[in-house]
Amino acid sequence: MTNLILAPIRINQLTLPNRMIVPAMVTRLSGEDGLVNQAITDRYTRFARGEVGLIVVEATAVHQSKSGPLLRLGSDEFLDGHRELVARIHDNGPSKVALQIIHFLKIARSGWRQTVDMLSQDEIKAIIQAYADTAARVREAGYDAVELHMAHAYTLSSFLSTRNKRRDEYGGRSLETRLRVPSEVMLRVRQRVGDDYPIGVRFDAEECIKDGYGLNDAKYMALRLAQLGANYVSLSAGGKFEDAQHEEGEAPYPYTGYSGDRTMPPASFQDAPNVYLAAGVKAFLATHAPQLTTKVVTTGKIRTPSDGNAILQAGNADMIGFARALLADPDMPKKARLGRENTIVRCIYGNVCKQLDENFKQVRCGSLWPREFLHAPEAPNDDIAPTWPDEGPHISTKLNDDGRVRVTWKPAIDPQGVYGYEVLRASNGGAFEHVSSSLTTNYVDETALAGNVYGYCVRAYDFAGNRSVASAMAEIVVSPRFEWVNKLALNHESTI
Ligand SMILES: Cc1cc2nc3c(=O)[nH]c(=O)nc-3n(C[C@H](O)[C@H](O)[C@H](O)COP(=O)(O)O)c2cc1C
Ligand code: SF4
Repeated sequence: MTNLILAPIRINQLTLPNRMIVPAMVTRLSGEDGLVNQAITDRYTRFARGEVGLIVVEATAVHQSKSGPLLRLGSDEFLDGHRELVARIHDNGPSKVALQIIHFLKIARSGWRQTVDMLSQDEIKAIIQAYADTAARVREAGYDAVELHMAHAYTLSSFLSTRNKRRDEYGGRSLETRLRVPSEVMLRVRQRVGDDYPIGVRFDAEECIKDGYGLNDAKYMALRLAQLGANYVSLSAGGKFEDAQHEEGEAPYPYTGYSGDRTMPPASFQDAPNVYLAAGVKAFLATHAPQLTTKVVTTGKIRTPSDGNAILQAGNADMIGFARALLADPDMPKKARLGRENTIVRCIYGNVCKQLDENFKQVRCGSLWPREFLHAPEAPNDDIAPTWPDEGPHISTKLNDDGRVRVTWKPAIDPQGVYGYEVLRASNGGAFEHVSSSLTTNYVDETALAGNVYGYCVRAYDFAGNRSVASAMAEIVVSPRFEWVNKLALNHESTI
């Protein structure tokens, strides 16, 4: 299988060195002033050293007024900081860089939120203008592309939604009227940045809420935006206020309901749950607008370059977004290029980073990075793997009364420092699978079932991702502890 994911790809006049993307990820590293600072620069230059094809810098407000702890580019005073950021990113590696620009409506701790039906026509015109003006600044700052945020819980997505309650020409009665503001934004932005400048659009291909729209509408949205000049459509899903859980005294966070899980699929979800959306849109564009070169990006719990490559080979997308996987290990693209995928530090999709975002705390990989690190560790010149102490890793298992299996082992040794441990599990003599990673020397398995035999082993890794040999296997026969399980075992004549 050729490694399509490592092949360059053209977007308008821009050529990306490979087909991996960091989709926008708010970092909460900027202050209330909305200015680019050193922490922001460090975060994005780290991605550039990892050689990802396109870095989409986090959602940046088009507003002219204060907009919370988020980057801003709603007026010229923010230009210099962005210029410097783009220059530093380009200095640090081959990555191209886009800026995602966003408009969002007001929200209060009481749970009240402004919705699009509360906007006057003048306010709508001002929003369209703000997108166009900000996009022009994006180009002026030297970004290689601009991405228009039309996904999740924000203003343009709310116009696209079937839950748009307006009844005028910008309203929710027809797909045409739902598309009107996003279409005007697209047109005005294209006029301002010129034909040769790459524009991407991120929108939900499925809202994942009751009475929300799905793939059928998304195909036509993609077609419209492509016809108006979008060079790529980056498809997301969900992330809506409509099913968000509201905690007393806190502003609702739109990723707390089922729709939020579809945006950032947790560990319990299958891998790549949103790829069928990209496949549907891509096939639709190919038959309905074969003359257009609009590329399709898919994102959502795609774990590794190999998994992404399989999606590209199947013709289901043109580019792959890896958000949390690249947060966990920004060197993933470089490791893939060097044929060292086995040294990738793998995201475990526990969503600690998402919780940090929700609580307005600096976003970092809270599960895997050592506590004192604000950015991903790096150790470029290290290919010495960790080893186990002479007496061995002493891996052992214990079944708790609550049905959980506790696995413990001794620390490994590495000249440049042990970073973490990969935990692998095999059930009933099958193949070992990576089930989690841990910074500490223990792991608790909450999914072991009575009547089965589990084998666990661990591999230590260092800051470069070099793996130790696997520890010996610790096996546990999970015996029935509850009366009904005893009956179940008897009925099935289990040998355990
Ligand atoms: C901390 C965090 C912040 C995010 N911020 C944004 C954002 O600013 N704009 C956006 O379109 N998506 C945002 N997302 C969604 C990601 O771009 C991505 O679609 C999602 O995490 C699923 O991809 P993954 O499974 O590869 O992480 C964010 C996700 C996370 C975890
Ligand atoms: S905090 Fe968890 S979900 Fe987020 S990047 Fe780290 S391992 Fe992945």
